[in-house]
Order: sequence, then structure tokens, then C-alpha cells
Amino acid sequence: MSSVESSIGSSSSSSSSSSVVYPAGELAINGGFEESPLGTAAANWVLGSGMRIVEGEHVLTGNRALEVVVTTLGSNPWDIQLVYSGADGAGVPVLSGTEYLYSIWIKGPAGARVNFTVGRPDYQELERREETLTGAWQQVVLEITTSADDTVLRMPTHFSISGNAGATFHLDDFSFRLKNPPATGYSPVTVAHLYALSPNNMPIGVAVPAGDASISLLNSPARQAVVNQHFSQITAENIMKPSYLQPAQGTFFWTHADALVNYAEANGLTVHGHTLLWHTQIPNWMQNFSGTREQWLDMMRTHIAAVAGRYAGRNSVVSWDVVNEAFEDAGSRYRGDPLADSNSRVSVWYENIGPEYIEEAFKAARAAAPNADLYYNDFSIEWNQPKLNAVIALVEDFLARDVPIDGVGFQMHVWANANVNNIRNHLKAVADTGVKVKITELDVRFNHVSPPLAANAYTPALADQHKQLIRDIVKAYLDVVPPAQRGGITVWGVADGDSWLLSLYGRPDWPLFFFNDMSPKPALQGFADALSGS
Ligand code: XIL
Repeated sequence: MSSVESSIGSSSSSSSSSSVVYPAGELAINGGFEESPLGTAAANWVLGSGMRIVEGEHVLTGNRALEVVVTTLGSNPWDIQLVYSGADGAGVPVLSGTEYLYSIWIKGPAGARVNFTVGRPDYQELERREETLTGAWQQVVLEITTSADDTVLRMPTHFSISGNAGATFHLDDFSFRLKNPPATGYSPVTVAHLYALSPNNMPIGVAVPAGDASISLLNSPARQAVVNQHFSQITAENIMKPSYLQPAQGTFFWTHADALVNYAEANGLTVHGHTLLWHTQIPNWMQNFSGTREQWLDMMRTHIAAVAGRYAGRNSVVSWDVVNEAFEDAGSRYRGDPLADSNSRVSVWYENIGPEYIEEAFKAARAAAPNADLYYNDFSIEWNQPKLNAVIALVEDFLARDVPIDGVGFQMHVWANANVNNIRNHLKAVADTGVKVKITELDVRFNHVSPPLAANAYTPALADQHKQLIRDIVKAYLDVVPPAQRGGITVWGVADGDSWLLSLYGRPDWPLFFFNDMSPKPALQGFADALSGS
């Protein structure tokens, strides 16, 4: 099962009477194997031979579990090894001198013995437990205390115990958490409906997983409740990107996007489309397309016409990110320029069409969806002056030449120590061009550096810092963007555990507005207070 659901403690199966309900603050990602495809790969785990992700009767909770078939005993007990190794195999970042709880559920033949360990990257063990199995699901819990120089841990399990040849085991619901999470005592949240506080009904949006994601909005009543209660707009976190919508040339896959748009309409929400063009999350055939500049333009226009055109007759899809992230990270050059910074040298659109791809994309979008607001969307422009200047120059050039553009999206993936004065000035600089300004992907990261962590618990003090920052950002937006130019504010995900930042950095974080049990965080109150001017 997923860590998100485990912290609600509501969806357990027959084991629920004995299962530990953990407080929020799961440090393991994909502990329930829910985020892995069926088969032999598992995100954040290193599997040995004979191990695979399965669904069906041997799942404890959720839809997936790990199956281990002991195919060889090998000559030493460490041969059949499963390791929880964190993102990119880098281990789980931890604080030193801190107590943690490790927990996993296992089912295997009665009498079989299995070793569970928590260790350092150099294979030194902090704790080991040898468990004799009962034949039914059982929970294994280890308590460990890190020492002064521990920053990263890995967690191997070993099955190669004599008598286990050919045996089959199942594991599920792995968890690694602080033993003593900070006492709660968060400041109160009294918001009934966030969107209802929005001045002039400016959209208050949220990005949602959809399609067959394990936490898809369409299959998650808990998320539906939050979305419908507090938001007036949704953005598809992934499923309207080119890789999802046109997986093979000329073959469009509408099922998931249509379902999401239908959901929006049935629930009185609008949709901000994301994204017609990007240098990443495009299908392989697009990435490897070979053709003349004209053929590239045709291919690009065909995609935009199909996607924007499909929803143009639906009043719900009110706006689009037409082009996402066209400028280099460092600032002023186009992404794809050979002289761009080292992160930013690849964009098939720029490489094959030249910078004109941007204006051609906007023209194609306008032709296909004449009533939708068309946005250029980018990150870091709330602090990166050269990049902001490049975006403003693009907008002014488009306006001067009558190239259609309606607004600029500030993704606003900010650090907890973001400088709100910069944010205010940068929002104002774009507003001064006369186009709309939308905050499109708001989230806040507390743990952004390599281990050691800045924080591994969301204390009431951090929650209040978060609340204040959100209040300040939303207030700055309302102060400097005139009502007619407000495209609204969208947050990038529902519950903290859903956030893309957790798997991006492989460390705990609390970027969003709801705890994993879907209760609102003080940051939601900060958002509400700024909207209502209190
Ligand atoms: C992210 C999604 O949140 C992840 O689920 C996905 O794996 C990668 O993309 N800027 C954007 C968004 O414009 O599309 C990105 O979304 C986050 C950064």
C-alpha cells in the first residue's frame, strides 16, 4: 500500500488490528510497492533475482506487493538480497543521534528464517533482526538510533537461509519513520472553502495525478473531497503532456485527459491545460523525429491543434501552458542553444526549428482554442533576474508583433527561505507588461540540499514559517497584479506525500497544503488569510 494511505490508517485489511498506525512523516518512498510496475523493477528498491512486483491475493494492502522466490541458495546467506536504497540508490537521509522505527510486513513458509537489517552505506550494520516466519502476514519492527556521523542508511533483507530453497515470500508496507515525531500543536486551520475567499473568483487551482497513477484523483475519494472542497480549478500533473497524449505519431490517447475534463465539469471546476510543448515528457518518436524544419513545424502544429482543439469546445478548459521552460536555467539563452548552461542544452524544438518555435506554437494554440488564455510558463523567474528579463523581452516582442500571448505562468517552486521582495518585484515586472500573471505550480521545499537534512520533521515552527511564507507570496501577488490580470494561483499537488519533490530529491519534505491524512495544514490558513485580506 502507499505511505499516504498508511498514515490515514483507514484502508488496512485483516491485519489492521495489529498494524501500527504511524504519524505523518514517512521517510520511505514506495514502501508499499504501489509506485512500481508489475515485474522486476521497483522504484527505490534494489531487487535480487527471483524478486518481482505482483498484484492479487498476496498483497497485504493497496494493489501491489513484492514477491521473492528463492531460486538459489548460494553459498552464503547474503546472496538473496533485497535492499531499500532510497532515490537513485543513495540511501535514506537521516539526522544523527536520532531514533527511528523500521517496519515491514512479511509472509512466508512457517519456520523459514529471514534477516532484516539497517546499515550504513559501507555495509556496517546498525541493527539486525532474524525473524522466524509463521506462515501468515507478520510485522517486523526494528528500532535504531543513529550515531553522530550517520547521514544516510540502507536497509537490506536477506533470505538465503538454509531450508528456504524454492520458498516463496511476500513483503508489503515497508515504513521508516522517526520514533518520536514532534508533538503536534499546529496552529488552527478554519478554512471552509479556500476558493470561496478568492477575490473576483480568481481561479484557485491544484495539480492532480490522474489516469492510472496509484493516487489518481479519479480513484481517490479522499483527494476528491479535498479538491472539491477547496479548489475551483485543476491542472493535470502529467496526463496532458505530449508523452501521454500522443504516444505514437498520429495516435492520440484521450482516455485519461477526457476523464479528467469530465470530472472537472461534473464538479464545477475549470481546467488549466498543461502543457502543449516542453523539452521533456515528450514521446520518443517526437524526441527522435527526423525531418526538415518545415516538417518539424508541421509535426508541432499537428500536436497543438489536436490537443488544444479537442477541448476548445469545452468551456471548462479555460487556459493552456503553451510553451513550458523555453529558457536555460541560468537565464537569458534559449534552452537548446549550444551555449546554454550545462543543464539546458537540449530542446528538440529549438534545435530543429529555432527560437521561432515559440511564436509558432502560440499561433497554433490560438487557432485551435481561440477562447483559451495562452500562457508561457517557467520556473525560477520569481528570483532569477536574467531569466525574468528574457521572459519579459519575449512577451514584449510578442505584444509588439501581435503574436498571441495572454499571460506568464510563474511555476513558483520555492525554497522555504524564499525572498518575498524579489517575488513581489518579479510578479510586478510581468504585470507591468499588461499580460496576465498566474502562479501555476506553487510548492515549498524545506529539504533541498544533499544530506545531512535541514529537517526531518515538520515541526509546528516550520509549519508556521510555511504559513507565513504562503501568506506573503499570495499577498504580494494580490498587491501587484491588478484584478483583470490575475490568472489565479495553483498549488502543485494535494497531500505532502503526493509531491513530486519527494521522489525528485529522495528525502522527506512538506511542500503542500494538506497532511497525508488530508487534514489541512497551517499553510492553507496562510493562503486563506491573504485571499481574504485578514
Ligand atoms: C512534474 C510532475 O509533478 C511529476 O509527477 C513528473 O514526474 C515530472 O513533472 N515543472 C513543470 C511540471 O512544469 O510539469 C513538473 O511536473 C514539475 C516542474
